[in-house]
Amino acid sequence: MIYRVIALSACLLAVSVIGQYEWQARDSFDEISRAMKLVNKDNCEIQHVGDLYLHEDSVSHLPDIKDSRFIRPAINDTYDPGMMYYFLSTVADVSTNKHINASAIYFSPNMSYSSSYRGFFNKTFPRFAPRTFRADDFNDPIHLERISTLNTFTVQDLGAIKPDTSNDYTSDYYRINEWYKKWLPDDVVMRHDTKTTYHIEIRYANNTNETFPFHGPPGADEVPGPVKWTRPYFDCGRSNRWLVAAVVPIADIYPRHTGFRHIEYPTYTGAAVVEMDFERIDINQCPPGLGNNGPNLFCRYGKMQKGKPQRRGAYQCRCLPGYRLPLQTRRPFLGEIVERATAEQYYNGFDCLKIGWIQKLPVQWEKAPPYIRNLYLDRYREYLNQTTGPATLNQPKLNIHRTLDFILGINKDNCKNYKPEELQLHGGAMYGAEEYFQNEAKMALRLANFISAFLQVSDPNEVYSGKRVADKPLTEDQMIGETLALVLGNSRIWSAGTYWERNKFTNRTLFAPYAYKKILNARKLNVEDLARLDKPDEVYLNKPWFKFLKYRWASNFDNLEKFWMKIKIRFNETGETTRKYEHYPNYYQGARLEHGYWTAPYYDCKGKVPMWKIKYVAPFFGWDSLKVKLEFKGVVAVTMDLLKLDINQCPDHYYIANAFKDTHKCDQKTSYCVPIPGRGFETGGYKCECKQGFEYPFEDPITYYDGQLVEAEFSNLVDNNETRFDMYKCRLAGASSIQASIVTVLVLLCICFGFYGPR
Ligand SMILES: *[C@@H]1O[C@H](CO)[C@@H](O)[C@H](O)[C@H]1NC(C)=O
Ligand SMILES: *[C@@H]1O[C@H](CO)[C@@H](O)[C@H](O)[C@H]1NC(C)=O
Ligand SMILES: *[C@@H]1O[C@H](CO)[C@@H](O)[C@H](O)[C@H]1NC(C)=O
Ligand SMILES: *[C@@H]1O[C@H](CO)[C@@H](O)[C@H](O)[C@H]1NC(C)=O
Ligand SMILES: *[C@@H]1O[C@H](CO)[C@@H](O)[C@H](O)[C@H]1NC(C)=O
Ligand SMILES: *[C@@H]1O[C@H](CO)[C@@H](O)[C@H](O)[C@H]1NC(C)=O
Ligand SMILES: *[C@@H]1O[C@H](CO)[C@@H](O)[C@H](O)[C@H]1NC(C)=O
Ligand SMILES: *[C@@H]1O[C@H](CO)[C@@H](O)[C@H](O)[C@H]1NC(C)=O
Ligand SMILES: *[C@@H]1O[C@H](CO)[C@@H](O)[C@H](O)[C@H]1NC(C)=O
Ligand SMILES: *[C@@H]1O[C@H](CO)[C@@H](O)[C@H](O)[C@H]1NC(C)=O
Repeated sequence: MIYRVIALSACLLAVSVIGQYEWQARDSFDEISRAMKLVNKDNCEIQHVGDLYLHEDSVSHLPDIKDSRFIRPAINDTYDPGMMYYFLSTVADVSTNKHINASAIYFSPNMSYSSSYRGFFNKTFPRFAPRTFRADDFNDPIHLERISTLNTFTVQDLGAIKPDTSNDYTSDYYRINEWYKKWLPDDVVMRHDTKTTYHIEIRYANNTNETFPFHGPPGADEVPGPVKWTRPYFDCGRSNRWLVAAVVPIADIYPRHTGFRHIEYPTYTGAAVVEMDFERIDINQCPPGLGNNGPNLFCRYGKMQKGKPQRRGAYQCRCLPGYRLPLQTRRPFLGEIVERATAEQYYNGFDCLKIGWIQKLPVQWEKAPPYIRNLYLDRYREYLNQTTGPATLNQPKLNIHRTLDFILGINKDNCKNYKPEELQLHGGAMYGAEEYFQNEAKMALRLANFISAFLQVSDPNEVYSGKRVADKPLTEDQMIGETLALVLGNSRIWSAGTYWERNKFTNRTLFAPYAYKKILNARKLNVEDLARLDKPDEVYLNKPWFKFLKYRWASNFDNLEKFWMKIKIRFNETGETTRKYEHYPNYYQGARLEHGYWTAPYYDCKGKVPMWKIKYVAPFFGWDSLKVKLEFKGVVAVTMDLLKLDINQCPDHYYIANAFKDTHKCDQKTSYCVPIPGRGFETGGYKCECKQGFEYPFEDPITYYDGQLVEAEFSNLVDNNETRFDMYKCRLAGASSIQASIVTVLVLLCICFGFYGPR
C-alpha cells in the first residue's frame, strides 16, 4: 500500500502548477519600461525634471562616433548664408535618414549672423534655432491616401520667441535642453587655441593655390570626439516621445568685424542636434566582453547576436564547449523564445547535452597522404592548375587565394603595369558594400538633397515685404564647405565631390569642388576645383557615372520622392513669434538612396590617393530656366576604401552577386559555413559550425572550426606541407546517455508495484 502513496504523490508533483515566469527576477528592463510609461503627453509638464530623463547607461549601442557630420565648416563667410540655408540643411538631414526624427541647429544668444534682413550687417539674432521634425501626416489634407508617408516635415524657428521666457531654449526653465548644455554656452576669453584647427589647401580652377586655416569641432580621433550624446529624454511639449540626441558643436569666429583680429576668438557659436526615437535603438543584454565594453543596464546573460529594436531577447544561447544541442534542435536557442518560457520550460527545456568523448588536438602534424590530397584537389579543382594575376578573376570557379594575392598586391608603383580594365573589378567583388557603406552613401545623398531643396525652394529673385531679403544663390565657398564637411565628418570617406552639370552653377561653366585627404585623421585637407581639367578625356562630364545618372534623369522625374515642408519663420529680426513662410506648405523633390549609383570597385591609379575604391553617386535636381519642369543639375559623389569590406565566402542564393560566394573550405557533409563579420578583406571570415546531429569532437574553448585556420591548413595541403585539414570535420553525435530519467523510473515503479505489489 505504501508504494501506491508514493506513486500518487509523484504524479501530483508533476501536475501541480508552478508559478509561471517566476524565474525572471525584476530587472532593469522592467525599471526602464516603468519609467517610460510613467511620463506621457499630458503629465510631462508637471513631472519632476529627473523623471524626464532616463539613466545614461540605458543606451548601450550608440551609433559609431565616426558617423558624425559637421555642419558648415565655414571657410570664409563674408556673406553669411541666409535663414533658408539653415532651414533646408536641417530638412535634408531628416529627409535622407528614416531613423532620424528631428534635426536642429541651436545658436547661442547673440551669435548668429545672417544675411536675411536688410541693414543687418554686424548684427546678430538674439536667438536662432531652425528645427525640422517629422510630422505624422496621416490626416493631412495634402495627402489624399490617408497613410503616413513620413515625408512631411514641420520646420520651425525655435528662436522666434521672447527671450527669457520658459520657451527660451537656453534657459534653465526649458528642462529638456540637455542637448544645448552639452557644448554651450562656450566661454572662451582671450584664448585662440581652444578649438581644433584644420588647414585646407584649395586649388582653384585658375590654378592658383590658397591655404586657409579654420576652426572646427574636435576630430573623430580625439577624446572627447565631436559628438556628445544626451541621456534619453521625454521630448515634452514637442514630439512627446522618448528621444536620444547626438550633439555636434559649430565653431565660428566671434565677435566679428571688430577690426581687431586679436579680440575675435574661435568659439562654439551653435550646436547641431539630431534626435532619434529611443525605442528604435537596440538594447544589449549580454555581459560586457570583447567588442561590448562600457556600462550597460540591460546586461543579463546569453550571447548577443544581431539586435532587434528595443525588445527583450535579442540574443542567442549557444552551448558551452564540450556540450552540443539536442538532436531535435537545429539552431541555437533564440533569446526571444527563452524569455517567453515558463519556469518549467526554462529549467528543463533549454539544455545542451554533454559530449561523450572528447578528443585532444594532435601535437604533431603530418603531410597528407597523396590519395587524401588528390581527393581534395579534385574537389577544389581551381587549386590544381593555379592562374595568377588579373586572369584569376575570370576563372569559372574563383581561386580566392590567388585573387586576393592579385588585389592586395597592387600598389601605386606597379599599378601602371596593368591595363585600366584589369584594374576594374566586376560588381560581385563589392558584395555587402551597399549595406556596409550605407552611412557614407547617406551623407552624399544628404548633400544632394540639400542642394535639390535649396535650388527648388529658395528663389534669389523673390521680393518680400518689410526688411527681409531672399537668400542669395549658393556660392562657391558654401559648396566647397559642404563638400569638405563630407570628408571631415566621416573617416571612411576618402574623397567627396560635388559635380555640377555644364552651365548650371551661377556664373560658372563647369564647377566641381573635390575634397580629399591623403592620410587618415589628418588636420590637413585638400580641395581642388576639377573644372580646371576640361580636356575631353579628363573632364568629369565624360565620366561613366556622371553620364549614367545624367541620362537616367534626363526627362522622367516621376520616381523622385516628394518631401513636404511646413515652414514657419520668425516674425521679424528680433524673433517675437513665428509666422508662416510665404509658400506654405511647399515641397521639393529629391532622390532616394536607390536612385544613386554604385560604381564597381576600381584601382585609382592616376588619382590623388591611389587605392582600391568604391564610389557612390547621388543626383540633385532644380527647376529649369522657365521654372516649369525639373532638370538634372549635377551629382554628389563619395569614395570609400574597398579593402575595408568583409568578404563573405559562405554559400548564398544564386541571384546574389558575390564574387567570393561559396569559396569556403568547410566540410560540406558535417558542417555549415557561418560568416564572421569584421575580419576584413581577407580569407577565412567565417566559421564551420556542426550541422544538426553532429558534434565538435575536440577539447577546445570553442565549438566550431575557425575559417582562418581552415583556410591556412588548406593552403598547407595544396602546398603539400604538414596539414590538419582532413581533421576539420564534425563527428556524428552519439546517443545522449544511458541514464534514465527519474520520472520514467517512478512511472515504471508505479506500474510494477501499483498493480502487482500489494497482492
Ligand atoms: C574672406 O574673404 C574676404 C575677401 O576675399 C576677405 O576680405 C576676408 O578677410 C576673408 N575673411 C576671413 C575670415 O578669412
Ligand atoms: C518619427 O515620428 C513619427 C511621428 O511622430 C512616428 O510615427 C515615427 O515612428 C517616428 N519615426 C522614427 C524613426 O522615430
Ligand atoms: C543680446 O543682445 C541684446 C541686445 O543687444 C542684449 O540685451 C542681451 O543681453 C544680449 N544677450 C546675451 C545673452 O548676451
Ligand atoms: C582664382 O579663382 C579664385 C576663386 O574663383 C579667386 O578668388 C582668385 O582671385 C583667382 N585668382 C586669379 C589669379 O585670378
Ligand atoms: C598648386 O599646387 C599644385 C600641387 O598641389 C601644383 O602642382 C601647382 O603648380 C600649384 N599652382 C601654383 C600656381 O602654384
Ligand atoms: C561689430 O560689432 C562689434 C561688437 O558688437 C563691435 O565691437 C564692432 O565695432 C562692430 N563693427 C562694425 C564695423 O560696426
Ligand atoms: C595545367 O596547365 C598545363 C600548362 O598550362 C596544361 O598542360 C595542363 O593540361 C593543365 N592541367 C590541368 C589539369 O588543367
Ligand atoms: C554673376 O555675374 C554677374 C555679372 O558679372 C554679377 O552681377 C553677379 O553678381 C554674379 N553672381 C554671383 C552669384 O556671383
Ligand atoms: C519686431 O516686432 C516687435 C513686435 O511687433 C517690435 O516690438 C520690435 O520692435 C520689432 N523689431 C524690429 C527690429 O523691428
Ligand atoms: C609550405 O612549406 C614551404 C617550405 O617550407 C613554405 O615556403 C610555404 O610557405 C609553406 N606553405 C604554406 C601555405 O605555409
